[in-house]
Amino acid sequence: MTHEPMDARENILIDPIQQHPEFHETESRVAVLGHPIHAMSVAFPIALTFILMGDDLLYWWTGDPFWARAALWSAGGGFLLGLVAGASGLAELLLVPGIRARDAAWTHFILAVLLLALLGANWGYRLTGYESAVLPYGALLSALCVVVVSAAGWHGGKLVFDYRLGTAKGS
Ligand code: HEM
Repeated sequence: MTHEPMDARENILIDPIQQHPEFHETESRVAVLGHPIHAMSVAFPIALTFILMGDDLLYWWTGDPFWARAALWSAGGGFLLGLVAGASGLAELLLVPGIRARDAAWTHFILAVLLLALLGANWGYRLTGYESAVLPYGALLSALCVVVVSAAGWHGGKLVFDYRLGTAKGS
C-alpha cells in the first residue's frame, strides 16, 4: 500500500478559540479618554494592603494604639477601593470579547476575588475590636493579603504587558 505525502498544513494545530474574529478585540471599554479605569484604580487597594501590613508590624513593635487604628482604616479603605477596582475589571472582563476569551483573564479574576474576600474578612474582624484584633490573627490575615495582592497584581500586569489586554492598538 502506498502513502501520499502528507500535506504540511495537516500538521498545523488550530485553536478554534483563536480563530474567532473577536479574539483580537482586546481594547479597553471602561476608560476615560482612552485611559483604562481599572489600571488607574488598582494602585489604591494594592498600596493600602502593603500599608496595612506595615501598620500591623508597627503596632506589634511599638504597642501604640494609633497603628491599630491606622490598620483598621487601611483594611477598610483597601477593601472598599478594591471593590471599585474590581467593578471596573469585571466590566472589562464581561464587555471585551478578546479579554473574556482568554483563560489568563479568568485566573486574574479568581485571584482578585480571593483578595477582596480576605480584605473584607480582615476589615470585618477588626471592627469587632481594632486593637485586640491585630495580634496574632489580624497580622496573619494581612500577611496573607500581601501574598495574594502580589500574585493578583503581578498577574494583572502580565495581562497588560504580555497579552496586551486593555491596551489601544495605536494609530
Ligand atoms: C474583581 C475582578 C477583577 C477583574 C475581572 C480584573 C480584570 C483585569 C483585566 C481584564 C486587566 C487587563 C487590563 C484592562 O483590561 O483594564 C487587569 C489588569 C490589572 N489588574 Fe485586575 N481585575 C480585577 C480586580 C483586580 C484587583 C482587586 C486588583 C488589585 C488590587 C487588580 C490588579 C490589576 C493590575 C495591577 C493590572 C495591570 C494594570 C496595568 O498595569 O495597566 N485587579 N485586571
